[in-house]
Amino acid sequence: MKYEFGIVGLGVMGHNLALNIERNGFPVVGFDLDQKKAREFALGPAAGKQILVVESPDLLIQALAKPRRILLMVPAGSPVDAVIARLKPLLEPQDILIDGGNSYFLDTERRGAELERDGIHFVGTGISGGAQGALWGPALMPGGQPEAWQALAPVFRAIAARAEDGQPCVAYIGPRGAGHYVKMVHNGIEYADMQLIAEIYDFLHRGLGISAGELAELFAEWNQAELRSYLIEITADILRKTDQETGLPLVDVILDEAAQKGTGKWTSQNALDLGAPIPTINAAVESRILSSLKSQRSAASRVLRGPQNLPPGNRADLILAARQALYASKIAAYAQGFGMLAAASQEYQYDLNLESIAGIWRAGCIIRASLLDQVMRAYHHQPDLTNLLLDDDFRSAVEQRQQGWRTAVQTAVGLGIPALALASSLAYFDAYRAERLPANLTQAQRDYFGAHTYRRLDREGVFHTDWQAAADQ
Ligand code: 6PG
Repeated sequence: MKYEFGIVGLGVMGHNLALNIERNGFPVVGFDLDQKKAREFALGPAAGKQILVVESPDLLIQALAKPRRILLMVPAGSPVDAVIARLKPLLEPQDILIDGGNSYFLDTERRGAELERDGIHFVGTGISGGAQGALWGPALMPGGQPEAWQALAPVFRAIAARAEDGQPCVAYIGPRGAGHYVKMVHNGIEYADMQLIAEIYDFLHRGLGISAGELAELFAEWNQAELRSYLIEITADILRKTDQETGLPLVDVILDEAAQKGTGKWTSQNALDLGAPIPTINAAVESRILSSLKSQRSAASRVLRGPQNLPPGNRADLILAARQALYASKIAAYAQGFGMLAAASQEYQYDLNLESIAGIWRAGCIIRASLLDQVMRAYHHQPDLTNLLLDDDFRSAVEQRQQGWRTAVQTAVGLGIPALALASSLAYFDAYRAERLPANLTQAQRDYFGAHTYRRLDREGVFHTDWQAAADQ
């Protein structure tokens, strides 16, 4: 018999995707360089299923129906190039290689162009949702040749998560590296979302002295309304968990250094290249970097003093302010992420459909949230909306929360609790809504020290002033 889908890389993601694909009616052939891992999978979860585990890439190629569909689930970077180099001589025109890792989108563009010369299709697909998502329904963001997508669509639609309206969380994203690009921005937003929640936790826990147990209840309650999302839900679960050894909340004994594998950093780097402002995402990346300087922070904490026990104000009012700040900041972060997607769509000619991307993110992925239904509606009504903050519903949602948002940021500042992401979201909002920013002074300075010239509000043209002569007058 011929198998319909191949998977190279049977780590937890590859292995769970194999089970998901088979469960949905597509027999799978799998291969892993690590023979022990392959055998364990064959004799364990794959036993009795239409999953064949083979010992070489050659056997994988022979077992597949044509055109072959092969998903690579190997670590991003050189392992992807190594697998492609191994498989390429065995492939035929029209075969489809799919990279399901968190690859850098420009690597995907390069690999796709190289394979296309031999008529081999290459699909770089974002896959979000972690191990459980891979098994029961991830969000999928495939990019590449449209005809390759046609050949993959039945499988991808079958295995994807489903939103509440029944729609599968997958759609063709765009050509070349578009799928991995969108996954990168998804991760940037994921960093922002996580950092905003962390700052609210810090504000309420360290600033207002609310215990982890009480916070678990609060987050669970917030998860019932406008903030409903996977990340809020798991935060409530996390805060509820007790450490078996110490009896303390587990979260309190976890080392406060956040790791990162690079997708958030890529989002920031690329946003700078594009000229797209994403201050909340940048603040989230920076906050992880700051957190990793643990020994410096420990030393500094002994010498750099903060404010003395400021009375924080009414507890219930501040909890409400925190909730409002979290939601408004989250809207600002999504506005930045979607603004970046719009800029990239132009720059790289990806022709991204922002409504469809919001739709894909509604279930299965890490940033799934009820807010995404509203993002979808906003782009449905106005596909070329310049900024989500200008959508009527989002505008009024932010307006209603504006006072609480400012109170939470001001109180955090007063208490000496760092709130890089919350404050960046608020500053983004204030900068975006300002008709006049102090860039006039920046331009004057540039002209003063470097004769870089400036333009005027009242006249067309480019001007230069001899500033010292002017100062002498
Ligand atoms: C997902 C996640 C996932 C990512 C992890 C870890 O959508 O399922 O984005 O792809 O690898 O969240 O990322 P960091 O190690 O950079 O935090």
